[in-house]
Amino acid sequence: MAKSVLSTSALRTIVTEIAAEMAASEDRGNVAAYIPELACIDPHRFALAIVTPEGEVIAAGDADMPFSIQSVSKAFTLAVALGQMGEALWTRVGREPSGDPFNSIVQLEHEQGIPRNPFINAGAIAVTDAILSGYEPREAIAHILEFIRYTAGDDEILIDENVARSEEATGFRNAALANFMRDFGNVTCEPAMTLGVYYHQCAVVMSARQLAMAGRFLAFDGCLRPGGSRVISGRMARQINALMLTCGHYDGSGEFAFRVGLPGKSGVGGGILAVAPGRASIGCWSPGLNAVGNSKLASLALEMLADRTGWSVFAPH
Ligand code: DON
Repeated sequence: MAKSVLSTSALRTIVTEIAAEMAASEDRGNVAAYIPELACIDPHRFALAIVTPEGEVIAAGDADMPFSIQSVSKAFTLAVALGQMGEALWTRVGREPSGDPFNSIVQLEHEQGIPRNPFINAGAIAVTDAILSGYEPREAIAHILEFIRYTAGDDEILIDENVARSEEATGFRNAALANFMRDFGNVTCEPAMTLGVYYHQCAVVMSARQLAMAGRFLAFDGCLRPGGSRVISGRMARQINALMLTCGHYDGSGEFAFRVGLPGKSGVGGGILAVAPGRASIGCWSPGLNAVGNSKLASLALEMLADRTGWSVFAPH
């Protein structure tokens, strides 16, 4: 069984110190304004939560404050789709970094409607369409929410309908992506239905603590704790982690891998789920974003955490 090398109290000190440093930071990035419901979030928020292999939660800052997980949901829907259809999913979406912004359409035409990876918007919409196929939108939404609640061990997790509606009203680019892929046959459901499910998954509301809990299956090789209840196969968990490392931060993925060295998935709500395989599942949140749409302070905090703990997928265990 993998063990945290650091004592709980040493880890607690690191987490508390990082939260204090982040609270004092003045350069916090800009809150996402393109989704009207997200534009009014207080940029001064910061949260960091870590779940250890022993199931202990170490948290600091606004760790119980709910936020819109947005694209962090794409890690969960990828797990749901892989569980549902296995390897066949890879006929619909690739596994290469795009090097383009999360909502880019440029590669889709050259690559016959097959998105580069499951984490850019086009890829996530194709994955959501695969989950929806054969179901009603409300069933697919319930299935995704149920998966997130199960992995977090928390039935209180909800979807913010106002955020979903806000995106539906303004998501012209996503509508373009879905319709474009429909033309290539890589969206098989009614695009408006697929988009409805996609917006609802993005509108799931979680705290950093809940996010860290929900990421345990990625940190512990498919299980909720080492040797515990299995959520997906170890192989699938490793595959999702590989994609989080290479594609989880869009055109900022190389920089995140270079600085943090851990698989991570970001969202424009300012959340990042990161995993130190065998050691910790980490939820981090600060609403201000950098130029490529990833949380500025959550990225910095994870870099500090990786430095101070020595956690890295490139370091010997
Ligand atoms: O589709 C969108 O634009 C949003 N619901 C999600 C985008 C997102 O979180 C990108 N991540 N950094």
